[in-house]
Amino acid sequence: RGCKLVGCGSATPSLQVSNDDLAKLVDTSDEWISVRTGIRNRRVLSGKDSLTGLAVEAARKALQMAKVEPDDVDLVLMCTSSAEDLFGGAPQIQKELGCKKNPLAYDITAACSGFLLGLLSAACHIRGGGFQNVLVIGADALSRYVDWTDRGSCILFGDAAGAVLVQACKIEEDGLFSFDVHSDGDGQRYLNASIKLKETDDVLGTNGSAINFPPHPSSFSCIQMNGKEVFRFAVRCVPQSIESALEKAGLTGSSIDWLLLHQANQRIIDAVATRLEVPPERVISNLANYGNTSAASIPLALDEAVRCGKVKSGHTIATAGFGAGLTWGSAIVRW
Ligand code: ACO
Repeated sequence: RGCKLVGCGSATPSLQVSNDDLAKLVDTSDEWISVRTGIRNRRVLSGKDSLTGLAVEAARKALQMAKVEPDDVDLVLMCTSSAEDLFGGAPQIQKELGCKKNPLAYDITAACSGFLLGLLSAACHIRGGGFQNVLVIGADALSRYVDWTDRGSCILFGDAAGAVLVQACKIEEDGLFSFDVHSDGDGQRYLNASIKLKETDDVLGTNGSAINFPPHPSSFSCIQMNGKEVFRFAVRCVPQSIESALEKAGLTGSSIDWLLLHQANQRIIDAVATRLEVPPERVISNLANYGNTSAASIPLALDEAVRCGKVKSGHTIATAGFGAGLTWGSAIVRW
């Protein structure tokens, strides 16, 4: 069986935070942020806005574009590292979308590589598991985990959701050509939001031995990042990964229509494009308006590029996700 992309959608919160707004919060400037990152604005969840709500809106738009009813979805993959329920958000999205036939729904946690790994999972479920319509949603609200006093990281992130519908098709129509995926736990020290262990008093257990109570810690620290190391990792590993995916698909950088990377930093995007010899006019970037939206960035940028007519039916796209874990990977797909 083959599988192909048949719809996309996205949603962003209404609250905009500009670089000038951030300069009121930390010692920074619009010039510093835009020169070093390419980011000018980001959207941030506020008040009672929910990430689940954004994910549902993005998914609905993808279903409408694909002309597929919620009841015909048999798998919902919610790719996120900021779920609103520690146990996962996908079943809630399935419920709110009105998928009454109760499709399988679960979360994938892989930070900025989440959407890419969601695509790979969708392909595996369709090719090997008999699934027909798989919704892959990338959604994150990292603004909730950012240290808003750390000017080195708080300037980077924004909140958003994006979705694609991946559908089973004849092998001749296959549109997900190849994948290349990796992880390296050693690099976790460069980018993480780890669990905070509580200093607790010893309590005597029933057999008289000392136990810590409560036994489980209950919160996570804010995002900790070594920007320089993350930057080096991205410009080293992402081109290699895309080259490997291109080779598996029998293509080269010059034969793709679009390069669509996780939107982390314009300097990373430019460096990867140069290395792959992809000219700037074939690189998709909307980072200036939204910042780094983690798992949402690829489907958000894809959705904008499709809806404004840049990406057309039949175009070949090289895409890559990379980030915390560390994790990274690429895919060559046809729109
Ligand atoms: N405004 C003004 N000055 C700043 C700011 C700021 N917002 N942030 C840092 N600085 C200062 C530093 O304090 C430092 O000052 P010093 O020289 O007096 O010590 C100077 O600017 C240089 O700081 P660097 O950290 O070396 O700046 P760099 O050029 O590396 O840019 C940045 C930092 C933008 C974070 C860059 O390293 C980067 O983008 N890295 C990749 C990060 C990334 O993409 N992370 C997300 C990964 S995806 C995921 O999984 C979540």
